Amino acid sequence: MKIEENYSLEKHNTFHLPVKARWFMEYETEEELEKILRDEYFQECDSMHIGEGSNLLFLNDYSGIILHSAIKEMTVVEETAGAVLLRIGAGERWDDVVAYAVSNGLGGIENLSDIPGETGAAAVQNIGAYGVEIKDVIVSVEGYNQLSFEKKVFPVSACGYAYRYSIFKDPYQEPHIITHVTIRLSRPAVFKLEYGNLRQELEAYAEVSLQNIRQAVKKVRWQKLPDPAELGNAGSFFMNPVIPAATFEQLKQQYPDMPFYPHAEGRVKVPAGWLIEQCGFKGKSHGGVGVYEKQALVLVNLGGATGHEIALVAESIRTAVQERFGIEMMPEVKYVG
Ligand code: EPU
Repeated sequence: MKIEENYSLEKHNTFHLPVKARWFMEYETEEELEKILRDEYFQECDSMHIGEGSNLLFLNDYSGIILHSAIKEMTVVEETAGAVLLRIGAGERWDDVVAYAVSNGLGGIENLSDIPGETGAAAVQNIGAYGVEIKDVIVSVEGYNQLSFEKKVFPVSACGYAYRYSIFKDPYQEPHIITHVTIRLSRPAVFKLEYGNLRQELEAYAEVSLQNIRQAVKKVRWQKLPDPAELGNAGSFFMNPVIPAATFEQLKQQYPDMPFYPHAEGRVKVPAGWLIEQCGFKGKSHGGVGVYEKQALVLVNLGGATGHEIALVAESIRTAVQERFGIEMMPEVKYVG
């Protein structure tokens, strides 16, 4: 177990904000986690669990305890005809899992290549890209109830998954800390190639294979998104808003070029990046905060930005989109502090 006081979180948030945590605690096993949760001092303090910090916006230093999982393992727990079940520690980097699956001929997550972050957070957030969401492969999620200290196994049907949502990020549900995620991978691999840009990119390859899909996804991804190692950012800053079909039909008359994705229950998902670009923000900057020039949904730290400055730019974008289109955008990024 690692316990540090006044710990810099600069390497634990992909905006690279130089904030500090009063305490940082990292555990490697479930036993260590349970010990922390049962500790009286821990129970008195504010605490927050983070993954790689690829979806966080720290507004201030954090005066409580930041928890981080270093539970690492990838174990094949079952093999059947056509499928392999893989149990993964929450602290495993998600892309290491994708690399493992692809190199072992296991299909299902290759479209989720190169998404920053760790596996526990990926299951909280229901990460998604290029026509696949992690919920499509999740079998179960294991977690500790932070109040009762009970361990529970949630079958995927009990996780409440929807677009970038699960019960694990819902403040009205009992708080759980995820320790392991079990996913089902296909062998032989079944490919998902509906996403237009990915299909186009794959035409340049001799054959469709897991390795080639992974390469194509990486290429398409980094054509539009900035690498957080080079330019601080947290991927899409807002979620794509889901609006009633009737509202969409009205807007479509005024804005015939408005892209959209059909959504469940008579609703339509509209790309926030397009809405933001229409409002004139793409490529603009304010102080150290930029709206990325290739994808308006991504806010970047051009150097020296604070969390407050990023939040102010986000708010002015939100207001402009609301005023022009009457659409409310919600941050995908979690504000802390
Ligand atoms: N668009 C614009 N201007 C922009 C950006 C996008 O007009 O500046 C338009 C594009 O032309 C396209 C549409 O918006 O017609 C959608 O753009 P894109 O395919 O880039 O995807 P997105 O909806 O902006 C979502 C996810 C991404 C994921 C991609 C690919 C959300 C909030 N974001 O972005 O996820 O990689 O699809 O599947 O759902 C993330 O969550 O951090 C993330 C990067």
